[in-house]
Amino acid sequence: MKLWGGRFQKETDNLVNDFNASIQFDQRLYREDITGSMAHARMLGECGIISREDVQAITQGLAGILADIESGKVTFTAENEDIHMNVEALLTARIGAAGKRLHTARSRNDQVALDFRMYVREQIPVILSQLLELERVLCSKARQHQETVMPGYTHLQRAQPISFAQHLMAYAAQFRRDITRLEDCKARMNECPLGCGALAGTTYPIDRRMTAAALGFDGPTSNSLDGVSDRDYALELMSGLSILMMHLSRFSEEIILWCSWEFKFIELDDAYATGSSIMPQKKNPDVAELVRGKTGRVYGDLMSLLTVMKGLPLAYNKDMQEDKEPVFDAIDTVEMCLPVFAAMIDTMKVLPENMRAAAGHGFINATDCADYLTKKGMPFRDAYTAVGRLVAVCAGGGKTLEELTLSQLREVSALFDEDVYEALSLRTCMGQRKSFGGPAVSETTRQIEDVERFIKDRTK
Ligand code: ARG
Repeated sequence: MKLWGGRFQKETDNLVNDFNASIQFDQRLYREDITGSMAHARMLGECGIISREDVQAITQGLAGILADIESGKVTFTAENEDIHMNVEALLTARIGAAGKRLHTARSRNDQVALDFRMYVREQIPVILSQLLELERVLCSKARQHQETVMPGYTHLQRAQPISFAQHLMAYAAQFRRDITRLEDCKARMNECPLGCGALAGTTYPIDRRMTAAALGFDGPTSNSLDGVSDRDYALELMSGLSILMMHLSRFSEEIILWCSWEFKFIELDDAYATGSSIMPQKKNPDVAELVRGKTGRVYGDLMSLLTVMKGLPLAYNKDMQEDKEPVFDAIDTVEMCLPVFAAMIDTMKVLPENMRAAAGHGFINATDCADYLTKKGMPFRDAYTAVGRLVAVCAGGGKTLEELTLSQLREVSALFDEDVYEALSLRTCMGQRKSFGGPAVSETTRQIEDVERFIKDRTK
């Protein structure tokens, strides 16, 4: 008979058993379930609701079950529906009556709310440490390429000169926000729903502060209905993970472009690229493509839970059992993407000559040329037009700005002098962009040191 079978005259149909069960996927919550039950039992004992002997039997019984699950000795059943009832049934089979007292002053609704919250809380640090490793990789790559000039783009058109370090540190800034977003989520979610009961708390003299403290929460959730129906933390996590994946996906897109023959700014390490079954020459950026592809999956996970939650009246509804698979999937996906992505970046070969060659074409020093005239007294708008005319001259003759002779330059403005060639050199154009946050070496050094300090603050 079912744990809840008291008022039923018939056995559950097998189709319903399978349909209703969540054990296939919620068994991964076994550790949280047992830890939560141990804290609950101890509190029941402290508050005089069950006897010390029962607490002792329950705690030992649960410890034995935990050990058996971890050594693969336990088979869960769909008959027992979910991890909570599977564990309780195992416990009662092992210790008898005391096992039946464990569920006093508790419901599966606050139990699942607790287990799931603890699981999410434990996974956030795993993702954070993977993100910190990625930041470390970016800083060390950036340190090597502060003078590696490349074209910066807008509209995927060559725009102005930057360094490869500046480009990498842009991503480091994004991942830094991802880290603080997840930290915020972890801090906000740290309230314990245990003791909310089914929805309306309990008449037993329980101590919710005691279980909250024992389980490492800042305190109990303040409203019993909200405590069992809140899945905001899961949604916040998946929102944070979606934004993180969006960053990884944009970066992946650039990796894919950069290792194409059209760009050839980088070459992926053989260990992080794949071949083609038919084209012997191919070396494909599958890792980056998969990260880009899996981003859609994580967005889907977020949308799935948002949609499950949107029409639910308070408090618990069985719809909420659908919360687990998307969250597990989003976490698994991110935890799989981050290490392989970081290693791919760490091992890729940067091709500075190709970056510099690309930077030499496309008039990416045109703004600097206009700035040159402006600094000699011409209003910027006039300088802009003058340089536009020069670009047209160059484009006609297949030349770059710095290849024009002084007399050609002077046809457009008498303000041009010998020093224009130095002003137009890529080294000057990149190196003089010293404004705060710019690509000059002094500024990329500051950015790298900032991020290194950020990492250090979190790893000591
Ligand atoms: N397996 C259920 C879930 O994941 C546990 C809570 C069930 N509660 C209930 N009243 N049926 O949501």
